Amino acid sequence: MRRNKNHYLRDSEGHMEAHSPARQFDSARFREVLGSYPTGVAIVTAMDEDGLPTGMVIGSFTSVSLDPPLIAYLPMKTSRTFARLRTSSTFCVNILAADQEPICQHFASAAEDKFAGLAWHPSPEGNPVLDGAVAWIDCDYASVTEAGDHYLVLGGVLDMRLERDTAPLLFFQRGYGRFSPGPLVAAAERETIEAVRLAEIGRDDMEAVAAELNAECSIVAAVGGDVVYVAVENRSPHWRLRSRLGFRVPCAPPLGTLFVGTPGAPTDTEWLKRLGRPDQETVDRSLAQLERVRSRGWSISLLGTDDADSLEEVVALYSNPHRTPAQERRLLAAAKERANLHEPEDLREDAAYDVLHLSVPVNSLSGEVPLVLRLGALPRGADLRQIRQWVQRLEQAAVSLERKIGARPDRLRA
Ligand SMILES: Cc1cc2nc3c(=O)[nH]c(=O)nc-3n(C[C@H](O)[C@H](O)[C@H](O)COP(=O)(O)O)c2cc1C
Repeated sequence: MRRNKNHYLRDSEGHMEAHSPARQFDSARFREVLGSYPTGVAIVTAMDEDGLPTGMVIGSFTSVSLDPPLIAYLPMKTSRTFARLRTSSTFCVNILAADQEPICQHFASAAEDKFAGLAWHPSPEGNPVLDGAVAWIDCDYASVTEAGDHYLVLGGVLDMRLERDTAPLLFFQRGYGRFSPGPLVAAAERETIEAVRLAEIGRDDMEAVAAELNAECSIVAAVGGDVVYVAVENRSPHWRLRSRLGFRVPCAPPLGTLFVGTPGAPTDTEWLKRLGRPDQETVDRSLAQLERVRSRGWSISLLGTDDADSLEEVVALYSNPHRTPAQERRLLAAAKERANLHEPEDLREDAAYDVLHLSVPVNSLSGEVPLVLRLGALPRGADLRQIRQWVQRLEQAAVSLERKIGARPDRLRA
């Protein structure tokens, strides 16, 4: 493409207009280059002058200003739908969810009545809000400016609401997609399969521990920055937990301590960095926890007084491969809130503990910790002697598993 210098002329109404008489412009390249920038997908709706719902798919939606609150989008000048939208003094931007691609395609088609068979309800301004949308924003027209073959609509925000805690629909290179968290998801799939294979070797050991202790025994692995439950056996008569199989938590303080610093797992610094920029108190506490786990050789976390179900719920949301960054932050915040329940400093002989988890590492010859054996759903009010017995039983199982996966057979544990 030749580089042309554009000359912009201001028209009588103060609008800017591109004026380039002998331009040679490669519109295919324009589309290709601009199509390499992803956008969300919105449907802008209103009730037209005949009182009928109308709406058009918009990829050019953007936020503009906080004070005053303004948003913008760019409809084509030739759009008949936009002409109908403009017959109303307000409009509503519906941000589509990742599972609403069919609705988007229906609206972008030549279908006569776009709202036929579609569930919607009126916004405070009376504009259609599509059921299942992530969010909606009611606006009036702050301005409509000509911008080449499009209009630039500035909307003054009147009201807005988040409707659904889910990932939005994305548009990129003329295709639809969804946000996937973290850069490691694809690589993690292979790692997960490897960990599941390895865990399968330890199934008998895991099941034996669960049956003997009437508890939940599981095998977890560090995969792509997360700790994933790759095998679970629950024999507890007291705990009717939803199976944790496939659940994952971030390898971030205070979680995943047995993996941290081993080959293939996050380093101490990477582990801390997962919290963003933690305050000094959090850093000190996390490093002390890491130290305690390393000197004990096992990890313990206690049950808090908080609602265990709500923690399960946050973990379940995090475990969804299509989780949103907000859901990820919620889990990190919940883990931070419960940080003091992990790796308590003094375990006293005369105290009774409500144990959430006990974990021991399965070591490989090369110093990796490919798996961790974990015990949960234990009876409450355990004393230290009982806890030590549980740890010992877990360690026995870990040694057996180490032998089977070709680790040092004569490994002695403290
Ligand atoms: C993902 C996607 C994003 C779109 N974004 C815009 C946009 O920002 N502006 C626009 O004018 N049309 C956009 N369109 C096209 C319009 O939705 C639609 O084709 C147009 O309203 C049809 O013209 P009509 O209104 O004359 O029927 C988009 C379409 C799709 C599928």
